[in-house]
Amino acid sequence: MAHQATISAPVNIACIKYWGKRDTSLILPTNSSLSITLNQDDLRSTTTAQCDPIFSPGDKLWLNGKEEVVKFGGRTATCIEVLRGWRRDLEKDKGLEPLSTYPLRVASHNNFPTAAGLASSASGLAALVFSLATLYSLPQSLGQLSLVARQGSGSACRSLFGGYVAWREGTQPDGSDSIAEEIAPRDHWPEMCALICVVSDAKKGTSSTSGMQRTVETSTLLQHRLTIVPERMSSISHAIKERNFDSFAQITMTDSNSFHAVCLDTSPPIFYMNDVSRSIIAMVEELNRVSGELGYGRIAAYTFDAGPNAVIYALEKWMGLVEKSVRRWFPQEGIVEVELEQEGNKVLGKFDERVMASWGKGAVKSLIKTRVGDGPRVLGEKESLLKDGQLKNS
Ligand code: DP6
Repeated sequence: MAHQATISAPVNIACIKYWGKRDTSLILPTNSSLSITLNQDDLRSTTTAQCDPIFSPGDKLWLNGKEEVVKFGGRTATCIEVLRGWRRDLEKDKGLEPLSTYPLRVASHNNFPTAAGLASSASGLAALVFSLATLYSLPQSLGQLSLVARQGSGSACRSLFGGYVAWREGTQPDGSDSIAEEIAPRDHWPEMCALICVVSDAKKGTSSTSGMQRTVETSTLLQHRLTIVPERMSSISHAIKERNFDSFAQITMTDSNSFHAVCLDTSPPIFYMNDVSRSIIAMVEELNRVSGELGYGRIAAYTFDAGPNAVIYALEKWMGLVEKSVRRWFPQEGIVEVELEQEGNKVLGKFDERVMASWGKGAVKSLIKTRVGDGPRVLGEKESLLKDGQLKNS
Protein backbone atom coordinates (compact mmCIF):
# COMPACT_ATOMS: atom_id res chain seq x y z
CA MET A 1 0.00 0.00 0.00
CA ALA A 2 1.22 3.48 -0.88
CA HIS A 3 1.97 5.89 1.93
CA GLN A 4 -0.59 8.66 1.84
CA ALA A 5 -2.09 11.76 3.43
CA THR A 6 -5.28 13.61 2.53
CA ILE A 7 -5.92 17.07 3.88
CA SER A 8 -8.06 20.12 3.21
CA ALA A 9 -6.97 23.75 3.36
CA PRO A 10 -9.01 26.96 3.50
CA VAL A 11 -9.27 30.08 1.39
CA ASN A 12 -8.19 33.38 2.93
CA ILE A 13 -9.29 36.88 1.94
CA ALA A 14 -6.98 39.75 2.81
CA CYS A 15 -8.10 42.90 4.65
CA ILE A 16 -4.64 44.43 4.20
CA LYS A 17 -3.55 43.44 0.71
CA TYR A 18 -0.29 41.89 -0.42
CA TRP A 19 0.59 43.61 -3.70
CA GLY A 20 4.22 43.74 -4.78
CA LYS A 21 7.36 41.63 -4.41
CA ARG A 22 10.82 42.81 -3.43
CA ASP A 23 12.19 39.39 -4.46
CA THR A 24 10.30 37.55 -7.17
CA SER A 25 11.99 34.17 -6.87
CA LEU A 26 11.78 33.82 -3.06
CA ILE A 27 8.40 35.63 -3.13
CA LEU A 28 9.25 38.29 -0.56
CA PRO A 29 6.58 41.00 -0.39
CA THR A 30 6.97 44.77 -0.40
CA ASN A 31 4.56 44.99 2.54
CA SER A 32 3.05 42.92 5.33
CA SER A 33 -0.56 41.78 4.89
CA LEU A 34 -3.42 40.45 7.00
CA SER A 35 -6.29 38.13 6.18
CA ILE A 36 -9.25 36.23 7.52
CA THR A 37 -9.38 32.49 6.94
CA LEU A 38 -12.76 31.38 5.61
CA ASN A 39 -14.66 28.27 6.64
CA GLN A 40 -13.56 25.11 4.84
CA ASP A 41 -17.03 23.64 5.12
CA ASP A 42 -17.89 26.11 2.34
CA LEU A 43 -14.66 26.72 0.37
CA ARG A 44 -11.64 24.45 0.34
CA SER A 45 -8.87 22.74 -1.56
CA THR A 46 -8.60 19.02 -0.85
CA THR A 47 -5.29 17.35 -1.62
CA THR A 48 -4.02 13.78 -1.46
CA ALA A 49 -0.30 13.03 -1.57
CA GLN A 50 0.94 9.47 -2.07
CA CYS A 51 4.39 7.97 -2.45
CA ASP A 52 5.46 4.41 -3.19
CA PRO A 53 8.69 2.85 -4.45
CA ILE A 54 6.66 0.91 -7.05
CA PHE A 55 5.38 4.07 -8.79
CA SER A 56 7.01 4.82 -12.15
CA PRO A 57 9.84 7.37 -11.76
CA GLY A 58 9.05 11.09 -11.60
CA ASP A 59 6.38 13.04 -9.71
CA LYS A 60 2.84 13.53 -11.04
CA LEU A 61 0.27 16.14 -10.16
CA TRP A 62 -3.44 16.45 -10.97
CA LEU A 63 -5.41 19.66 -10.47
CA ASN A 64 -9.18 19.34 -10.62
CA GLY A 65 -8.88 16.02 -12.45
CA LYS A 66 -6.39 17.26 -15.08
CA GLU A 67 -2.75 16.28 -15.11
CA GLU A 68 -0.42 19.27 -14.73
CA VAL A 69 3.24 19.37 -15.62
CA VAL A 70 5.45 20.01 -12.59
CA LYS A 71 7.84 22.46 -14.20
CA PHE A 72 11.44 21.97 -13.15
CA GLY A 73 12.50 24.98 -11.06
CA GLY A 74 8.89 26.22 -10.96
CA ARG A 75 7.05 27.22 -7.79
CA THR A 76 5.39 23.85 -7.16
CA ALA A 77 8.66 22.01 -7.76
CA THR A 78 10.41 24.33 -5.29
CA CYS A 79 7.87 23.54 -2.55
CA ILE A 80 8.20 19.79 -3.18
CA GLU A 81 11.98 20.02 -3.18
CA VAL A 82 12.20 21.84 0.17
CA LEU A 83 9.80 19.44 1.90
CA ARG A 84 11.56 16.39 0.43
CA GLY A 85 14.85 17.79 1.73
CA TRP A 86 13.40 18.14 5.22
CA ARG A 87 12.18 14.54 5.03
CA ARG A 88 15.63 13.40 3.89
CA ASP A 89 17.21 15.09 6.95
CA LEU A 90 14.69 13.36 9.20
CA GLU A 91 15.43 9.97 7.63
CA LYS A 92 19.16 10.48 8.25
CA ASP A 93 18.62 11.58 11.86
CA LYS A 94 16.07 8.94 12.82
CA GLY A 95 16.73 6.07 10.43
CA LEU A 96 13.22 6.29 8.95
CA GLU A 97 11.91 4.66 5.76
CA PRO A 98 13.30 6.61 2.76
CA LEU A 99 9.99 8.10 1.58
CA SER A 100 11.96 11.04 0.20
CA THR A 101 13.33 8.75 -2.53
CA TYR A 102 9.90 7.49 -3.67
CA PRO A 103 8.04 9.07 -6.63
CA LEU A 104 5.12 11.27 -5.58
CA ARG A 105 1.53 11.37 -6.81
CA VAL A 106 -0.45 14.44 -5.78
CA ALA A 107 -4.09 15.19 -6.61
CA SER A 108 -5.81 18.41 -5.65
CA HIS A 109 -9.40 19.52 -6.02
CA ASN A 110 -11.09 22.87 -5.32
CA ASN A 111 -14.79 22.93 -4.51
CA PHE A 112 -15.10 26.39 -6.12
CA PRO A 113 -14.20 27.69 -9.62
CA THR A 114 -10.43 28.07 -10.05
CA ALA A 115 -9.32 31.57 -11.04
CA ALA A 116 -12.65 33.12 -10.05
CA GLY A 117 -10.66 35.64 -8.09
CA LEU A 118 -11.30 33.55 -5.00
CA ALA A 119 -7.64 32.94 -4.19
CA SER A 120 -7.59 29.31 -5.35
CA SER A 121 -3.80 29.48 -5.51
CA ALA A 122 -3.70 30.28 -1.79
CA SER A 123 -5.72 27.28 -0.62
CA GLY A 124 -4.22 25.05 -3.31
CA LEU A 125 -0.57 25.71 -2.47
CA ALA A 126 -1.26 25.61 1.28
CA ALA A 127 -2.94 22.23 0.72
CA LEU A 128 0.03 20.95 -1.29
CA VAL A 129 2.51 21.94 1.43
CA PHE A 130 0.40 20.62 4.30
CA SER A 131 -0.34 17.31 2.56
CA LEU A 132 3.37 16.64 1.95
CA ALA A 133 4.30 17.71 5.50
CA THR A 134 1.69 15.23 6.78
CA LEU A 135 2.78 12.44 4.40
CA TYR A 136 6.41 12.93 5.47
CA SER A 137 5.55 13.33 9.23
CA LEU A 138 7.59 16.54 9.28
CA PRO A 139 8.17 18.08 12.71
CA GLN A 140 8.36 21.64 11.34
CA SER A 141 5.94 24.22 12.81
CA LEU A 142 3.14 25.83 10.78
CA GLY A 143 5.25 29.00 10.73
CA GLN A 144 8.13 27.10 9.10
CA LEU A 145 5.72 25.49 6.62
CA SER A 146 4.43 28.98 5.80
CA LEU A 147 7.94 29.86 4.54
CA VAL A 148 7.56 27.05 2.00
CA ALA A 149 3.93 27.79 1.02
CA ARG A 150 4.96 31.43 0.47
CA GLN A 151 7.32 30.28 -2.27
CA GLY A 152 4.42 28.51 -4.00
CA SER A 153 2.17 31.59 -3.95
CA GLY A 154 2.60 34.52 -1.56
CA SER A 155 -0.92 34.55 -0.15
CA ALA A 156 -0.78 30.75 0.40
CA CYS A 157 1.34 31.22 3.53
CA ARG A 158 -1.69 32.75 5.28
CA SER A 159 -3.91 29.72 4.48
CA LEU A 160 -1.91 27.50 6.86
CA PHE A 161 -3.63 29.13 9.83
CA GLY A 162 -7.22 29.58 10.91
CA GLY A 163 -8.76 32.78 12.24
CA TYR A 164 -7.00 36.10 11.75
CA VAL A 165 -3.58 35.85 10.13
CA ALA A 166 -0.68 38.24 9.48
CA TRP A 167 2.11 37.69 6.96
CA ARG A 168 5.12 39.64 8.20
CA GLU A 169 7.17 41.01 5.31
CA GLY A 170 10.47 40.39 7.18
CA THR A 171 13.84 42.00 6.53
CA GLN A 172 16.19 39.05 5.85
CA PRO A 173 17.36 38.70 2.24
CA ASP A 174 16.94 34.90 2.45
CA GLY A 175 13.27 35.27 3.46
CA SER A 176 13.68 33.36 6.73
CA ASP A 177 11.55 35.93 8.61
CA SER A 178 8.92 36.48 5.91
CA ILE A 179 6.50 34.28 7.78
CA ALA A 180 2.78 33.96 8.54
CA GLU A 181 1.36 33.88 12.06
CA GLU A 182 -2.06 33.72 13.63
CA ILE A 183 -2.85 36.99 15.39
CA ALA A 184 -6.16 35.73 16.82
CA PRO A 185 -7.86 32.35 16.59
CA ARG A 186 -11.27 31.91 15.00
CA ASP A 187 -12.90 31.58 18.43
CA HIS A 188 -11.67 35.01 19.46
CA TRP A 189 -14.24 36.62 17.12
CA PRO A 190 -16.39 33.81 15.73
CA GLU A 191 -19.24 36.14 14.77
CA MET A 192 -17.26 37.37 11.74
CA CYS A 193 -19.15 36.38 8.57
CA ALA A 194 -18.41 36.91 4.89
CA LEU A 195 -20.71 37.19 1.90
CA ILE A 196 -18.96 36.55 -1.40
CA CYS A 197 -20.73 38.21 -4.30
CA VAL A 198 -19.65 36.42 -7.47
CA VAL A 199 -19.73 39.14 -10.11
CA SER A 200 -17.87 37.07 -12.66
CA ASP A 201 -16.63 33.51 -12.55
CA ALA A 202 -14.66 33.87 -15.76
CA LYS A 203 -10.88 33.60 -15.67
CA LYS A 204 -9.44 37.00 -14.83
CA GLY A 205 -7.52 39.21 -17.28
CA THR A 206 -4.30 40.20 -15.50
CA SER A 207 -2.92 37.62 -13.09
CA SER A 208 -1.87 38.77 -9.62
CA THR A 209 1.70 37.69 -10.29
CA SER A 210 2.21 39.78 -13.43
CA GLY A 211 -0.05 42.64 -12.28
CA MET A 212 1.78 43.25 -9.04
CA GLN A 213 5.16 43.16 -10.79
CA ARG A 214 4.00 45.81 -13.22
CA THR A 215 2.83 47.92 -10.27
CA VAL A 216 6.24 47.61 -8.58
CA GLU A 217 7.96 48.69 -11.80
CA THR A 218 5.72 51.61 -12.77
CA SER A 219 3.58 52.97 -9.92
CA THR A 220 4.84 55.93 -7.88
CA LEU A 221 1.70 55.71 -5.74
CA LEU A 222 2.87 52.29 -4.52
CA GLN A 223 5.77 54.00 -2.72
CA HIS A 224 3.26 56.11 -0.81
CA ARG A 225 1.13 53.07 -0.02
CA LEU A 226 4.17 51.33 1.45
CA THR A 227 4.67 54.14 3.99
CA ILE A 228 1.06 53.76 5.18
CA VAL A 229 0.60 50.00 5.45
CA PRO A 230 2.67 49.45 8.67
CA GLU A 231 0.38 51.77 10.64
CA ARG A 232 -2.67 50.08 9.09
CA MET A 233 -1.35 46.64 10.07
CA SER A 234 -1.07 47.64 13.69
CA SER A 235 -4.44 49.47 13.76
CA ILE A 236 -6.34 46.54 12.25
CA SER A 237 -4.62 44.04 14.57
CA HIS A 238 -5.72 46.23 17.46
CA ALA A 239 -9.29 46.44 16.07
CA ILE A 240 -9.40 42.63 15.80
CA LYS A 241 -8.03 42.16 19.33
CA GLU A 242 -10.66 44.61 20.67
CA ARG A 243 -13.40 43.18 18.41
CA ASN A 244 -14.02 46.70 17.15
CA PHE A 245 -15.95 46.14 13.91
CA ASP A 246 -16.32 49.84 13.11
CA SER A 247 -12.57 50.34 13.02
CA PHE A 248 -11.95 46.95 11.32
CA ALA A 249 -14.39 47.92 8.55
CA GLN A 250 -12.93 51.36 8.00
CA ILE A 251 -9.38 50.00 7.61
CA THR A 252 -10.43 47.05 5.42
CA MET A 253 -12.34 49.22 2.95
CA THR A 254 -9.62 51.89 2.85
CA ASP A 255 -6.96 49.31 2.12
CA SER A 256 -8.99 47.66 -0.64
CA ASN A 257 -9.42 51.06 -2.27
CA SER A 258 -5.73 51.85 -1.83
CA PHE A 259 -4.80 48.57 -3.54
CA HIS A 260 -7.11 49.28 -6.50
CA ALA A 261 -5.75 52.83 -6.67
CA VAL A 262 -2.19 51.53 -7.15
CA CYS A 263 -3.53 49.19 -9.83
CA LEU A 264 -4.97 52.22 -11.63
CA ASP A 265 -1.63 54.01 -11.14
CA THR A 266 0.16 51.14 -12.90
CA SER A 267 1.24 51.56 -16.53
CA PRO A 268 -0.64 50.33 -18.48
CA PRO A 269 -3.39 50.62 -15.81
CA ILE A 270 -5.01 47.52 -14.35
CA PHE A 271 -8.78 47.50 -13.77
CA TYR A 272 -10.01 44.69 -11.58
CA MET A 273 -13.29 46.20 -10.42
CA ASN A 274 -16.16 46.86 -12.82
CA ASP A 275 -19.39 48.87 -12.60
CA VAL A 276 -21.12 46.15 -10.58
CA SER A 277 -18.21 46.11 -8.11
CA ARG A 278 -18.43 49.89 -7.72
CA SER A 279 -22.17 49.67 -7.21
CA ILE A 280 -21.59 47.17 -4.37
CA ILE A 281 -19.22 49.71 -2.82
CA ALA A 282 -21.93 52.39 -3.07
CA MET A 283 -24.43 50.06 -1.37
CA VAL A 284 -22.12 49.21 1.56
CA GLU A 285 -21.11 52.85 2.00
CA GLU A 286 -24.78 53.85 2.17
CA LEU A 287 -25.60 51.08 4.67
CA ASN A 288 -22.71 52.32 6.81
CA ARG A 289 -23.78 55.96 6.49
CA VAL A 290 -27.22 55.11 7.86
CA SER A 291 -26.01 52.70 10.54
CA GLY A 292 -23.47 55.32 11.64
CA GLU A 293 -26.19 57.95 11.90
CA LEU A 294 -28.31 55.59 13.97
CA GLY A 295 -25.39 55.07 16.35
CA TYR A 296 -24.52 51.46 15.41
CA GLY A 297 -21.21 52.36 13.74
CA ARG A 298 -20.17 50.68 10.49
CA ILE A 299 -21.84 47.32 9.99
CA ALA A 300 -20.25 46.01 6.77
CA ALA A 301 -16.87 46.08 5.00
CA TYR A 302 -16.23 45.38 1.33
CA THR A 303 -12.94 44.17 -0.06
CA PHE A 304 -11.92 43.21 -3.63
CA ASP A 305 -8.96 41.09 -4.76
CA ALA A 306 -7.57 40.84 -8.28
CA GLY A 307 -11.03 40.56 -9.86
CA PRO A 308 -14.52 42.10 -9.77
CA ASN A 309 -15.98 39.84 -7.05
CA ALA A 310 -16.81 41.47 -3.73
CA VAL A 311 -16.28 39.95 -0.33
CA ILE A 312 -18.39 41.69 2.27
CA TYR A 313 -17.45 41.12 5.91
CA ALA A 314 -20.14 41.69 8.56
CA LEU A 315 -20.88 40.38 12.03
CA GLU A 316 -23.54 37.67 12.23
CA LYS A 317 -26.08 40.08 13.67
CA TRP A 318 -25.93 42.29 10.55
CA MET A 319 -25.43 39.66 7.85
CA GLY A 320 -29.20 39.36 7.25
CA LEU A 321 -29.35 43.06 6.43
CA VAL A 322 -26.34 42.82 4.11
CA GLU A 323 -27.77 39.80 2.30
CA LYS A 324 -31.21 41.34 1.98
CA SER A 325 -29.68 44.52 0.55
CA VAL A 326 -27.59 42.63 -2.00
CA ARG A 327 -30.62 40.59 -3.06
CA ARG A 328 -32.72 43.73 -3.36
CA TRP A 329 -30.33 45.73 -5.55
CA PHE A 330 -28.64 42.82 -7.34
CA PRO A 331 -31.53 40.41 -7.97
CA GLN A 332 -30.79 36.68 -8.04
CA GLU A 333 -32.55 33.76 -9.73
CA GLY A 334 -35.27 32.55 -7.34
CA ILE A 335 -36.71 34.56 -4.46
CA VAL A 336 -35.23 34.25 -1.00
CA GLU A 337 -36.96 36.20 1.76
CA VAL A 338 -34.58 37.40 4.45
CA GLU A 339 -36.34 38.37 7.69
CA LEU A 340 -34.74 41.24 9.59
CA GLU A 341 -34.66 42.25 13.23
CA GLN A 342 -35.94 45.68 14.15
CA GLU A 343 -32.50 47.32 13.87
CA GLY A 344 -31.98 45.98 10.36
CA ASN A 345 -35.35 47.33 9.24
CA LYS A 346 -34.50 50.70 10.76
CA VAL A 347 -31.31 50.92 8.69
CA LEU A 348 -33.05 49.79 5.51
CA GLY A 349 -35.86 52.30 6.11
CA LYS A 350 -33.41 55.19 5.90
CA PHE A 351 -31.39 53.83 2.96
CA ASP A 352 -31.25 56.39 0.15
CA GLU A 353 -32.04 54.36 -2.97
CA ARG A 354 -30.80 57.15 -5.23
CA VAL A 355 -27.20 56.01 -4.68
CA MET A 356 -27.99 52.71 -6.39
CA ALA A 357 -28.00 51.96 -10.10
CA SER A 358 -30.62 49.41 -11.07
CA TRP A 359 -29.19 46.04 -12.04
CA GLY A 360 -30.97 43.16 -13.70
CA LYS A 361 -30.66 39.51 -12.79
CA GLY A 362 -27.17 38.10 -13.18
CA ALA A 363 -25.15 41.26 -12.41
CA VAL A 364 -24.26 39.39 -9.22
CA LYS A 365 -24.34 35.78 -10.38
CA SER A 366 -24.32 34.00 -7.07
CA LEU A 367 -23.75 34.46 -3.37
CA ILE A 368 -21.61 32.36 -1.07
CA LYS A 369 -22.30 32.77 2.62
CA THR A 370 -19.47 31.80 4.91
CA ARG A 371 -17.59 32.85 8.03
CA VAL A 372 -14.22 32.82 9.73
CA GLY A 373 -12.82 29.27 9.87
CA ASP A 374 -10.04 27.00 11.06
CA GLY A 375 -6.69 26.01 9.54
CA PRO A 376 -5.87 22.90 7.45
CA ARG A 377 -7.49 19.62 8.48
CA VAL A 378 -6.16 16.09 8.17
CA LEU A 379 -8.83 13.90 6.54
CA GLY A 380 -9.41 10.17 6.59
CA GLU A 381 -8.57 7.56 3.98
CA LYS A 382 -12.15 7.55 2.72
CA GLU A 383 -11.64 11.07 1.42
CA SER A 384 -8.53 10.21 -0.56
CA LEU A 385 -8.52 11.41 -4.19
CA LEU A 386 -6.02 8.71 -5.25
CA LYS A 387 -5.91 4.93 -5.33
CA ASP A 388 -2.55 3.24 -5.98
CA GLY A 389 -1.15 6.42 -7.47
CA GLN A 390 -4.09 6.89 -9.89
CA LEU A 391 -7.01 9.32 -9.73
CA LYS A 392 -10.06 7.70 -8.20
CA ASN A 393 -13.14 7.66 -10.47
CA SER A 394 -11.06 7.85 -13.60
C1 DP6 B 1 -4.89 40.67 -4.48
O1 DP6 B 1 -0.61 35.33 -3.74
O2 DP6 B 1 -1.90 35.19 -5.91
O3 DP6 B 1 -5.19 38.50 -3.55
O4 DP6 B 1 2.54 35.50 -4.87
O5 DP6 B 1 2.37 35.97 -7.29
O6 DP6 B 1 1.25 33.94 -6.34
P1 DP6 B 1 1.68 35.37 -6.09
O7 DP6 B 1 0.38 36.25 -5.87
P2 DP6 B 1 -0.95 35.93 -5.05
O8 DP6 B 1 -1.48 37.43 -4.85
C2 DP6 B 1 -2.61 37.73 -4.08
C3 DP6 B 1 -2.96 39.15 -4.24
C4 DP6 B 1 -4.29 39.57 -3.61
C5 DP6 B 1 -4.06 40.20 -2.24
C6 DP6 B 1 -3.84 39.25 -1.08
O9 DP6 B 1 -4.32 38.11 -1.08
O10 DP6 B 1 -3.18 39.71 -0.12
